[in-house]
Amino acid sequence: MNSVVVGLQWGDEGKGKVVTYLSRKYDCVVRYSGGSNAGHTVDYGQFKLVHHLVPSADLRLRKGMYIASGVAVDLSVLLQEIEQIENLFPGSSELLQVSKQSHVVVPFYRELDGKIDVARSEPVGTTRRGIGLCYANRALRFGIRLEDFEEEQSLEKRLAELTKVWNLQVDTKLILSQLLDMYRRLSYLLIDSVEAFEKLRDKDLLFEATQGVLLDVDAGTYPYVTSTNCSSSGVQAGFGFPVRLDKVIGVTKAYTTRVGEGPFPTELKGEEGEKIRRLGGEYGATTGRPRRCGWLDFVLLRYAVKVSGCDELILTKADVLNGFERLAVCVAYDIDGVKVRDVKNLRNIHKAEPLYEEIEGWRDLGSLSFERFLKRIEQETGVKISHVSTGPKVEDIVEL
Ligand code: IMO
Ligand code: MG
Repeated sequence: MNSVVVGLQWGDEGKGKVVTYLSRKYDCVVRYSGGSNAGHTVDYGQFKLVHHLVPSADLRLRKGMYIASGVAVDLSVLLQEIEQIENLFPGSSELLQVSKQSHVVVPFYRELDGKIDVARSEPVGTTRRGIGLCYANRALRFGIRLEDFEEEQSLEKRLAELTKVWNLQVDTKLILSQLLDMYRRLSYLLIDSVEAFEKLRDKDLLFEATQGVLLDVDAGTYPYVTSTNCSSSGVQAGFGFPVRLDKVIGVTKAYTTRVGEGPFPTELKGEEGEKIRRLGGEYGATTGRPRRCGWLDFVLLRYAVKVSGCDELILTKADVLNGFERLAVCVAYDIDGVKVRDVKNLRNIHKAEPLYEEIEGWRDLGSLSFERFLKRIEQETGVKISHVSTGPKVEDIVEL
């Protein structure tokens, strides 16, 4: 069985924890999108791991991990993460493979990412991890792939060409030697995509998305999005081969967060938003930025469920709202004086005035009012909730 876990909001829904928990039922966890802009925090109890590139497989169970060609690979981040998992679970990096056809984030992409973003009249607020640059260079056919490292001379030429295109005064020789050094340390992990496909085609694969449907470059709140198809639609292209998905599992928080710029109709700018941020620890795992917080938005959730083909839902962070007396959900928008329950695109959501309905709070997740909240989500989305996360740790999850 093949499944994908996608975020149904603007990222940080708890995909890492969910993937770690679900990985016990699969042979291998596959990353197919994004790069080190992702930050998936997994709380094992005794320690926490933040995954930026290494798939969030349960390391205690020694499952396979594969970084497919659709991922933008930052070699320094990958090396750091490997060191981290090796310290905790010696020998675990042997279970990891990385596609030779994946593109490399060249160090100066990060700086360019920031420069491009601040040059905009309305910045996106990227993570500055060079992800947009990596995918742009891939599309421009100036990108550097891991397989290019096999021929040093041509790599040098490619790198020089890249600096010329972007008009950079950098020490190409130094960058080259740093990249080569990192590449050599990682070379034992590399595999051609075709070989990986042959090894994995008969296995049970769990695809781990990055970001969220609303940050997908096509389906999301363009231009305030990331640079890949991080929704379920990106699985085939990011993996590199046809793969039948048996299940699309969507993860949503009981409220909404967003980090970076862009429209966010249910954002709570005052005290309530601050309270959710504090109680939910809503600070970016990659950049440390405070996340913008707001109520759950059924208009956007329905949209995300629809465009991702979501078959089942996993609800996270409802425990953060334990004890809140007043809770609200957005049931529709007022756009230019018209009540809108469903949107066909996200073009006008910057104009959306959320129409709220107050709902009864819950003392804890055993409360009847919480059960009613779950039913309400199922009614509004037309999709069943399969699991509810009850706390931060991997095991804090119940199957319904
Ligand atoms: P995970 O996988 C939340 C946001 C950035 C910015 C926009 C574009 O942890 O859910 P980029 O660096 O990708 O060019 O930035 O996307 N963003 C995320 N927000 N979670 C993420 O990943 C994100 N990855 C990118 O804040 O608004
Ligand atoms: Mg994150």
